[in-house]
Amino acid sequence: MDSTVATHEMDDHAAFFERVETLRAGVDRRLAELAPPVGSAPDRLVEAVRYSLLAPGKRFRPMVTLLAAAELGAPEGAALDVACAFEMIHAASLILDDLPAMDDAGLRRGLPTIHRAFDEATAILAGVGLLNQAYAVIAADRGLPAPLRAELAGRAAHAVGFSGLIAGQARDLFDRDKLRDPAALDRLNHEKTGVLIIAAAQGGALVAKETGGRASDAAVEAMGVFARHIGLAFQIRDDLIDAQGSTEAAGKDVGKDAAMATVVSTLGSTGARQVMEEHLAKASGALAEVGCGDLLGRYVGDLFARRKAAA
Ligand code: IPE
Ligand code: IPE
Ligand code: MG
Ligand code: MG
Ligand code: MG
Repeated sequence: MDSTVATHEMDDHAAFFERVETLRAGVDRRLAELAPPVGSAPDRLVEAVRYSLLAPGKRFRPMVTLLAAAELGAPEGAALDVACAFEMIHAASLILDDLPAMDDAGLRRGLPTIHRAFDEATAILAGVGLLNQAYAVIAADRGLPAPLRAELAGRAAHAVGFSGLIAGQARDLFDRDKLRDPAALDRLNHEKTGVLIIAAAQGGALVAKETGGRASDAAVEAMGVFARHIGLAFQIRDDLIDAQGSTEAAGKDVGKDAAMATVVSTLGSTGARQVMEEHLAKASGALAEVGCGDLLGRYVGDLFARRKAAA
């Protein structure tokens, strides 16, 4: 390769990682501010909430919100609290997912799960508390017009509710024996994982639309199609990690799904990886329709590529 081209590519990579890292660090800082401060509620509860929420996760959902908003021309920072609200919902979903009555997991984000580090009652209260705090954060975001806040809080609550995450988790626990065909597995993965990612992506696009950015209704729709495929691919990626990854690298229990119907157990890893690639290709096609810059697509592409390199 021509050395000038190589240097240019290195600069471009460095600029990309710096931009992503700056946004991610901003999410971490704001989450620490939005989490209940010490003294605001019983110490044990506050400590447990902060332990789970601020533990080192990828911050995938808030990053999707921030990048969607930024790429569609929202002012810097306009979507930050909404992005953090999606991370709060996600953190709550992990707390509940790990409980003894659910996946009974011991490790999360490299740390003992909250119910092991504290106790089960504290974990339940922390999870339910975080869900409620997420809606309150959106409702209180005075930087956004009030109708948009109502719209986003409604969408967030809907993503958690009986046609979203909660429904998916119930299906995951109780309907596993009915999940033998690809459409049923898609529905499960869409509900338990995809719906929140769709809300996060469209949330970012809606912030752009209402704060002087260039998001049309069609762009918001296409962002939803993009996120739908990303959500399905994301759960397959997670199931591949469960089947093939190490506890050390994943920072959480693996091998939990061995006896369950997943895309990986029904199609094998090669088949599952192929379906994941198909979803990623469809996601890229939808993102082209959104008509935004390439940062969001690049961020998501990089995340999936890193998993492939580790496999
Ligand atoms: C794990 O989510 C749970 C799923 C929905 C697959 P992440 O892989 O985003 O977990 P963190 O936030 O990085 O810990
Ligand atoms: C994730 O499913 C669904 C959630 C909404 C948390 P998993 O049960 O596979 O997630 P991990 O593997 O425990 O992170
Ligand atoms: Mg689970
Ligand atoms: Mg789990
Ligand atoms: Mg998993």
